[in-house]
Amino acid sequence: MNESGPMRKSANTVWQVMSITRDERERLQGHRSFLVWFTGLSGSGKSTMIFALEKRLYKLGYRTFALDGDNVRHGLCADLGFSQADRIENIRRVGEAAKLLTQAGVIVLAAFISPYRADRQKVKNLMAAGDFIEVFCDCPLEICETRDVKGLYKKARDGEIRDFTGISSPYERPGHADLLLETGKYSIEECTDQVMECIKSRLRLAGSDKTDVSGL
Ligand code: ADX
Repeated sequence: MNESGPMRKSANTVWQVMSITRDERERLQGHRSFLVWFTGLSGSGKSTMIFALEKRLYKLGYRTFALDGDNVRHGLCADLGFSQADRIENIRRVGEAAKLLTQAGVIVLAAFISPYRADRQKVKNLMAAGDFIEVFCDCPLEICETRDVKGLYKKARDGEIRDFTGISSPYERPGHADLLLETGKYSIEECTDQVMECIKSRLRLAGSDKTDVSGL
């Protein structure tokens, strides 16, 4: 539906009804679309999870697209930093992009720190009921920091990076995530299995020959 929040400045526009519905697109490809939103600290395994999951789903013939925080900040959100206001705008834009992709019939796998509960809730509110699955990559800060794959925790501790999540910027843990993944404890394979189990029932499209998900 059309955006009518306080941000909207383009008043003289009229919502255009699309000629092909989402339902029709889903039928054409034989599966449903929805958004799986991975939240968690930097280094908690969000990107690893969306790419592993995407490979699994791709092999089984599902249309997916991975939206990754670092990648999106090279383009769509290249003008944004890490202040609270910029993070809010980052998640708003990405939420809208994810919504468009689900309307195109795609299963969207999103990996964003998205540290504020209110922003994650806003993305959920954008989506149709049941189309937002929140996965919390619950990995202790100590483990993320020890891994420090990108060397950013060290820089944050040394004061070279400001507003770093978990160090000098907050992270609000989800209270009611659809799935809590202990990425510091289980392997990528085991975590992927857990997500597949969680989304299995949502993939099914009544009347489609792609309803056999036993191979998942
Ligand atoms: S979010 O907070 O707005 O959701 P997003 O997921 O897009 O963040 O980007 C996080 C990525 O940016 C991290 O994985 C890390 O590589 C990088 N990064 C650079 N500076 C920061 C910072 N100050 N805080 C967190 N991540 C940062």
